[in-house]
Amino acid sequence: MFTEEQIQAIEKASLAEALKLVTDQFPEATVLSSSLGQEDQVLTEAIAVNKLPVKIFTLDTGRLFYEHYDLLEKTNARYKINIAVYFPEDSDVEAYVKAKGANGFYESVENRKECCFIRKVKPLNRALEGAKVWITGLRSEQSDNRKDMKMIEWDEDRGLYKFNPLIRWSYNEVLNYIKEKNIPYNPLHDKGFVSIGCAPCTRAIEPGEDPRAGRWWWEASHKECGLHVHQ
Ligand code: ADX
Ligand code: SF4
Repeated sequence: MFTEEQIQAIEKASLAEALKLVTDQFPEATVLSSSLGQEDQVLTEAIAVNKLPVKIFTLDTGRLFYEHYDLLEKTNARYKINIAVYFPEDSDVEAYVKAKGANGFYESVENRKECCFIRKVKPLNRALEGAKVWITGLRSEQSDNRKDMKMIEWDEDRGLYKFNPLIRWSYNEVLNYIKEKNIPYNPLHDKGFVSIGCAPCTRAIEPGEDPRAGRWWWEASHKECGLHVHQ
Protein backbone atom coordinates (compact mmCIF):
# COMPACT_ATOMS: atom_id res chain seq x y z
CA MET A 1 0.00 0.00 0.00
CA PHE A 2 1.08 3.57 -0.64
CA THR A 3 0.29 6.06 2.13
CA GLU A 4 -1.01 9.52 1.26
CA GLU A 5 2.42 10.94 2.27
CA GLN A 6 4.24 8.54 -0.05
CA ILE A 7 1.96 9.48 -2.94
CA GLN A 8 2.64 13.16 -2.32
CA ALA A 9 6.40 12.55 -2.20
CA ILE A 10 6.23 10.63 -5.50
CA GLU A 11 4.22 13.40 -7.14
CA LYS A 12 6.79 16.02 -6.14
CA ALA A 13 9.87 13.96 -7.11
CA SER A 14 11.82 14.04 -10.37
CA LEU A 15 11.10 11.24 -12.85
CA ALA A 16 14.07 9.11 -11.74
CA GLU A 17 13.36 9.68 -8.04
CA ALA A 18 9.67 8.90 -8.45
CA LEU A 19 10.46 5.62 -10.21
CA LYS A 20 12.95 4.78 -7.45
CA LEU A 21 10.41 5.50 -4.69
CA VAL A 22 7.88 3.21 -6.34
CA THR A 23 10.27 0.35 -7.02
CA ASP A 24 11.67 0.57 -3.48
CA GLN A 25 8.15 -0.04 -2.24
CA PHE A 26 7.35 -2.82 -4.73
CA PRO A 27 10.64 -4.34 -5.91
CA GLU A 28 10.14 -7.16 -8.43
CA ALA A 29 6.40 -6.41 -8.72
CA THR A 30 6.57 -3.27 -10.85
CA VAL A 31 6.11 -3.51 -14.62
CA LEU A 32 6.13 -1.05 -17.55
CA SER A 33 3.91 -1.59 -20.56
CA SER A 34 5.69 -0.06 -23.53
CA SER A 35 4.27 0.55 -26.99
CA LEU A 36 7.75 1.97 -27.78
CA GLY A 37 6.01 5.31 -28.29
CA GLN A 38 7.86 8.48 -27.31
CA GLU A 39 6.55 8.55 -23.72
CA ASP A 40 7.40 4.89 -23.17
CA GLN A 41 10.91 5.40 -24.56
CA VAL A 42 11.45 8.15 -21.94
CA LEU A 43 10.36 5.73 -19.20
CA THR A 44 12.47 2.87 -20.54
CA GLU A 45 15.53 5.11 -20.56
CA ALA A 46 14.93 6.25 -16.96
CA ILE A 47 14.39 2.68 -15.76
CA ALA A 48 17.37 1.22 -17.63
CA VAL A 49 19.88 3.97 -16.82
CA ASN A 50 18.95 3.82 -13.13
CA LYS A 51 18.96 -0.01 -13.20
CA LEU A 52 15.56 -0.23 -11.55
CA PRO A 53 13.92 -3.63 -11.02
CA VAL A 54 11.07 -3.24 -13.51
CA LYS A 55 9.90 -5.79 -16.07
CA ILE A 56 9.40 -3.93 -19.36
CA PHE A 57 7.03 -5.56 -21.82
CA THR A 58 5.43 -4.77 -25.15
CA LEU A 59 2.29 -6.23 -26.69
CA ASP A 60 2.86 -7.51 -30.22
CA THR A 61 -0.58 -7.56 -31.82
CA GLY A 62 0.77 -9.10 -35.01
CA ARG A 63 -0.31 -5.96 -36.93
CA LEU A 64 2.38 -3.49 -35.86
CA PHE A 65 4.46 -1.27 -38.14
CA TYR A 66 7.75 -2.69 -39.39
CA GLU A 67 9.49 0.24 -37.66
CA HIS A 68 8.35 -1.10 -34.28
CA TYR A 69 10.56 -4.17 -34.59
CA ASP A 70 13.64 -2.18 -35.57
CA LEU A 71 13.11 0.09 -32.61
CA LEU A 72 12.64 -2.87 -30.27
CA GLU A 73 16.02 -4.28 -31.29
CA LYS A 74 17.68 -0.87 -31.15
CA THR A 75 16.31 -0.16 -27.66
CA ASN A 76 17.36 -3.55 -26.31
CA ALA A 77 20.87 -3.07 -27.70
CA ARG A 78 21.24 0.51 -26.53
CA TYR A 79 20.21 -0.15 -22.91
CA LYS A 80 21.33 -3.79 -22.69
CA ILE A 81 17.85 -4.93 -21.77
CA ASN A 82 15.47 -7.56 -23.09
CA ILE A 83 11.94 -6.17 -23.42
CA ALA A 84 9.47 -9.03 -22.98
CA VAL A 85 7.10 -9.52 -25.93
CA TYR A 86 3.56 -10.80 -25.35
CA PHE A 87 1.49 -12.21 -28.21
CA PRO A 88 -2.23 -12.94 -28.53
CA GLU A 89 -3.53 -16.51 -28.27
CA ASP A 90 -3.25 -18.16 -31.69
CA SER A 91 -6.70 -19.76 -31.35
CA ASP A 92 -8.30 -16.33 -30.66
CA VAL A 93 -6.72 -14.75 -33.74
CA GLU A 94 -7.52 -17.72 -35.97
CA ALA A 95 -11.18 -17.75 -34.91
CA TYR A 96 -11.48 -13.97 -35.34
CA VAL A 97 -9.94 -13.94 -38.81
CA LYS A 98 -12.11 -16.89 -39.89
CA ALA A 99 -15.30 -15.19 -38.71
CA LYS A 100 -14.58 -11.51 -39.46
CA GLY A 101 -11.79 -11.52 -42.02
CA ALA A 102 -8.20 -10.26 -41.73
CA ASN A 103 -9.33 -6.61 -41.73
CA GLY A 104 -12.74 -7.13 -40.10
CA PHE A 105 -12.06 -4.26 -37.68
CA TYR A 106 -12.96 -1.71 -40.38
CA GLU A 107 -16.52 -3.03 -40.61
CA SER A 108 -17.90 -2.07 -37.20
CA VAL A 109 -16.90 -0.65 -33.84
CA GLU A 110 -17.86 -3.97 -32.31
CA ASN A 111 -15.49 -5.87 -34.61
CA ARG A 112 -12.75 -3.36 -33.90
CA LYS A 113 -13.14 -3.65 -30.14
CA GLU A 114 -13.13 -7.42 -30.38
CA CYS A 115 -9.87 -7.32 -32.32
CA CYS A 116 -8.32 -4.96 -29.73
CA PHE A 117 -9.56 -7.22 -26.96
CA ILE A 118 -8.00 -10.33 -28.47
CA ARG A 119 -4.79 -8.76 -29.64
CA LYS A 120 -4.15 -6.25 -26.83
CA VAL A 121 -6.31 -6.48 -23.73
CA LYS A 122 -6.06 -10.25 -23.16
CA PRO A 123 -2.25 -10.32 -23.62
CA LEU A 124 -2.02 -7.24 -21.36
CA ASN A 125 -3.89 -9.06 -18.61
CA ARG A 126 -1.46 -11.97 -18.93
CA ALA A 127 1.55 -9.62 -18.82
CA LEU A 128 0.21 -7.95 -15.67
CA GLU A 129 -0.23 -11.20 -13.72
CA GLY A 130 1.54 -10.89 -10.36
CA ALA A 131 2.24 -7.17 -10.78
CA LYS A 132 1.46 -4.72 -7.97
CA VAL A 133 2.34 -1.58 -9.93
CA TRP A 134 1.68 -1.00 -13.63
CA ILE A 135 3.66 1.89 -15.13
CA THR A 136 2.26 3.54 -18.26
CA GLY A 137 3.23 6.46 -20.49
CA LEU A 138 -0.21 8.09 -20.32
CA ARG A 139 -0.40 11.91 -20.41
CA SER A 140 -3.48 13.92 -19.50
CA GLU A 141 -3.14 16.09 -22.63
CA GLN A 142 -3.67 13.08 -24.89
CA SER A 143 -7.46 12.83 -24.64
CA ASP A 144 -10.56 13.75 -22.67
CA ASN A 145 -10.60 10.29 -21.15
CA ARG A 146 -7.10 10.87 -19.78
CA LYS A 147 -7.38 14.46 -18.61
CA ASP A 148 -8.49 13.68 -15.04
CA MET A 149 -6.17 10.72 -14.49
CA LYS A 150 -3.85 10.91 -11.49
CA MET A 151 -0.18 10.05 -11.28
CA ILE A 152 -0.96 7.12 -9.01
CA GLU A 153 -4.35 5.48 -9.02
CA TRP A 154 -5.73 2.23 -7.68
CA ASP A 155 -7.06 0.04 -10.50
CA GLU A 156 -9.93 -1.74 -8.79
CA ASP A 157 -10.60 -4.14 -11.67
CA ARG A 158 -7.04 -5.36 -11.89
CA GLY A 159 -6.15 -5.05 -8.20
CA LEU A 160 -2.98 -3.03 -8.70
CA TYR A 161 -1.65 0.52 -8.71
CA LYS A 162 -1.44 2.27 -12.03
CA PHE A 163 1.51 4.64 -12.06
CA ASN A 164 1.54 7.33 -14.77
CA PRO A 165 4.78 9.26 -14.12
CA LEU A 166 4.39 11.49 -17.21
CA ILE A 167 0.74 12.34 -16.60
CA ARG A 168 1.46 16.08 -16.36
CA TRP A 169 4.23 16.26 -18.99
CA SER A 170 3.56 18.24 -22.15
CA TYR A 171 4.37 16.81 -25.57
CA ASN A 172 7.27 19.27 -25.84
CA GLU A 173 8.75 18.09 -22.57
CA VAL A 174 8.72 14.54 -23.93
CA LEU A 175 10.37 15.62 -27.18
CA ASN A 176 13.02 17.66 -25.36
CA TYR A 177 13.88 14.79 -23.03
CA ILE A 178 14.29 12.44 -26.00
CA LYS A 179 16.53 14.92 -27.78
CA GLU A 180 18.60 15.73 -24.71
CA LYS A 181 19.33 12.08 -23.92
CA ASN A 182 19.50 11.00 -27.55
CA ILE A 183 16.92 8.27 -26.94
CA PRO A 184 16.07 6.02 -29.91
CA TYR A 185 12.57 6.66 -31.29
CA ASN A 186 10.27 5.49 -34.04
CA PRO A 187 11.13 7.33 -37.32
CA LEU A 188 7.38 7.47 -38.10
CA HIS A 189 7.14 10.25 -35.49
CA ASP A 190 9.05 12.47 -37.94
CA LYS A 191 6.49 11.68 -40.66
CA GLY A 192 3.38 13.03 -38.92
CA PHE A 193 2.61 10.02 -36.76
CA VAL A 194 2.15 11.19 -33.17
CA SER A 195 0.26 8.39 -31.46
CA ILE A 196 1.19 5.05 -33.02
CA GLY A 197 -0.78 1.84 -32.68
CA CYS A 198 -1.32 -0.98 -35.16
CA ALA A 199 -0.43 -0.26 -38.81
CA PRO A 200 -3.91 -0.73 -40.33
CA CYS A 201 -5.45 1.44 -37.60
CA THR A 202 -3.02 4.39 -37.51
CA ARG A 203 -2.46 7.21 -39.98
CA ALA A 204 -0.33 10.36 -39.93
CA ILE A 205 -2.04 13.57 -38.77
CA GLU A 206 -1.99 17.07 -40.26
CA PRO A 207 -0.55 19.98 -38.24
CA GLY A 208 -3.21 21.22 -35.81
CA GLU A 209 -5.16 17.97 -35.80
CA ASP A 210 -5.93 16.23 -32.51
CA PRO A 211 -2.93 14.05 -31.55
CA ARG A 212 -5.12 10.94 -31.51
CA ALA A 213 -6.97 11.77 -34.74
CA GLY A 214 -4.82 9.24 -36.59
CA ARG A 215 -5.93 6.33 -34.41
CA TRP A 216 -9.01 4.38 -35.72
CA TRP A 217 -9.54 7.43 -37.95
CA TRP A 218 -12.59 5.96 -39.67
CA GLU A 219 -14.52 5.95 -36.38
CA ALA A 220 -16.29 9.11 -35.19
CA SER A 221 -14.93 9.00 -31.63
CA HIS A 222 -13.86 6.44 -29.01
CA LYS A 223 -10.13 6.77 -29.59
CA GLU A 224 -9.35 4.08 -27.04
CA CYS A 225 -8.62 0.41 -27.49
CA GLY A 226 -9.62 -0.79 -24.06
CA LEU A 227 -6.20 -0.92 -22.37
CA HIS A 228 -7.03 2.15 -20.30
CA VAL A 229 -10.80 2.08 -19.99
CA HIS A 230 -12.62 -0.01 -17.46
CA GLN A 231 -14.22 -3.02 -19.12
S1 ADX B 1 -3.93 2.97 -26.61
O1 ADX B 1 -4.81 2.55 -25.52
O2 ADX B 1 -4.47 4.08 -27.42
O3 ADX B 1 -3.45 1.87 -27.45
P1 ADX B 1 -1.58 4.58 -26.36
O4 ADX B 1 -1.01 4.14 -27.67
O5 ADX B 1 -2.10 5.96 -26.23
O6 ADX B 1 -2.70 3.54 -25.85
O7 ADX B 1 -0.49 4.32 -25.24
C1 ADX B 1 -0.76 4.62 -23.87
C2 ADX B 1 -0.02 3.64 -23.00
O8 ADX B 1 -0.60 2.34 -23.16
C3 ADX B 1 1.43 3.47 -23.34
O9 ADX B 1 2.23 4.44 -22.68
C4 ADX B 1 1.70 2.07 -22.83
O10 ADX B 1 1.91 2.08 -21.43
C5 ADX B 1 0.40 1.35 -23.11
N1 ADX B 1 0.43 0.65 -24.42
C6 ADX B 1 -0.22 1.00 -25.56
N2 ADX B 1 0.05 0.14 -26.56
C7 ADX B 1 0.89 -0.79 -26.05
C8 ADX B 1 1.56 -1.94 -26.57
N3 ADX B 1 1.42 -2.35 -27.84
N4 ADX B 1 2.36 -2.65 -25.75
C9 ADX B 1 2.52 -2.28 -24.45
N5 ADX B 1 1.93 -1.20 -23.91
C10 ADX B 1 1.13 -0.46 -24.69
FE1 SF4 C 1 -6.85 -4.91 -34.18
FE2 SF4 C 1 -6.59 -2.39 -35.07
FE3 SF4 C 1 -7.03 -2.90 -32.44
FE4 SF4 C 1 -4.67 -3.46 -33.62
S1 SF4 C 1 -5.59 -1.42 -33.26
S2 SF4 C 1 -5.74 -4.75 -32.19
S3 SF4 C 1 -5.33 -4.21 -35.66
S4 SF4 C 1 -8.41 -3.28 -34.20
